[in-house]
Amino acid sequence: MTQKAYSVAILGATGLVGRTMLDVLDERDFPVSKIIPLASERSRGREVAFRGTTYHTEVPSRDVFSQADIALFSAGAATSRQWASVAADAGAVVIDNSSAFRMDPDVPLVVPEVNPDDMFRSDGTPAGIIANPNCSTIQMVVVLKPLHDRYRIRRVVVSTYQSVTGKGKAGRDALEDELAGKTSGSHVHVHPIAFNAVPHIDVFQENGYTKEEMKMVNETRKIMGADALSISPTTVRIPVYGGHGEALNIEFENEFEQDDVTGLLAESPGIIVEDDPSDNLYPMPLTAYEKDEVFVGRIRRDYWHPRTLNMWIVADNLRKGAATNAVQIAEKLVGRL
Ligand SMILES: NC(=O)c1ccc[n+]([C@@H]2O[C@H](COP(=O)([O-])OP(=O)(O)OC[C@H]3O[C@@H](n4cnc5c(N)ncnc54)[C@H](OP(=O)(O)O)[C@@H]3O)[C@@H](O)[C@H]2O)c1
Repeated sequence: MTQKAYSVAILGATGLVGRTMLDVLDERDFPVSKIIPLASERSRGREVAFRGTTYHTEVPSRDVFSQADIALFSAGAATSRQWASVAADAGAVVIDNSSAFRMDPDVPLVVPEVNPDDMFRSDGTPAGIIANPNCSTIQMVVVLKPLHDRYRIRRVVVSTYQSVTGKGKAGRDALEDELAGKTSGSHVHVHPIAFNAVPHIDVFQENGYTKEEMKMVNETRKIMGADALSISPTTVRIPVYGGHGEALNIEFENEFEQDDVTGLLAESPGIIVEDDPSDNLYPMPLTAYEKDEVFVGRIRRDYWHPRTLNMWIVADNLRKGAATNAVQIAEKLVGRL
């Protein structure tokens, strides 16, 4: 029996995440009958190649979404707010990469390694809009989930080292322009990013945290169904490509053995442990670049707190932090649409 193939619209197909979605759909042999690339008026007509076929970029419309089974959105929150309900009403299942619906109680927020069942309603049909979490949240919850299930997490202190590509084409171009000596008055990363580290991602909230930091708090709690989890983040932009690094300090309710933690993470889905200090082995953004997994290293007990663990995790923000997670959600729809 031949497998059903799906018509996939990609809103934001000309962006960093959208282009990575095309790569990931192809690499993972997703059953595609046709691609519908969508972007702004600026990109109308631009060619997009997929598996030997050339498509022409269109602008979003109700008519275009009525031809799609699945719509992958990665064109910012305002565009999602404008088009997600239209696409869902037109019959597509929307998988949205923006922050527009993540904390909406009626919209599931899904990481397939953590809460895959949340994307389906009680009658087994998929929700019309499924939200993809923030990149820095996704890689963290893939690691926290197995640890929480076994040792019960009380508190997480996390500091991030985030790639310029997390800010899309503009974020990447800002670094390249600065390195080429081209400077303009305004800075995409608030301050110069070349040779710098900027502890400011997204806007500051009244509580002194940035919106990026509060996304890590609120989204993690929602995905893990752990409303009381205490998470204390500091998010920092650094001039790298390849992925986001995160230094985690995790306090548990229960005791643990370090070897058991390493074994548990190594056998958990979506994780690769690279941890051998004697051989200078630990993950880096260059390690994670264009990979779909979350890499973990520097696993060690907190010297002063016996029930607390330190580790360093890295994932490609354009892949597991965005495109791969969205395609993994789409894979759960195969055979159910
Ligand atoms: N970068 C990451 O690591 C990451 C991770 C997780 C989630 N996300 C989310 O994914 C989304 C896209 O991020 P990105 O990094 O790919 O950004 P990007 O490189 O700047 O690409 C933005 C895309 O959105 C399209 N677009 C912008 N305004 C539009 C409009 N009014 N109507 C239709 N299309 C429009 C752009 O089309 P044009 O080419 O025509 O301008 C482009 O295809 C954002 O919501 C972001 O928050 C990004």
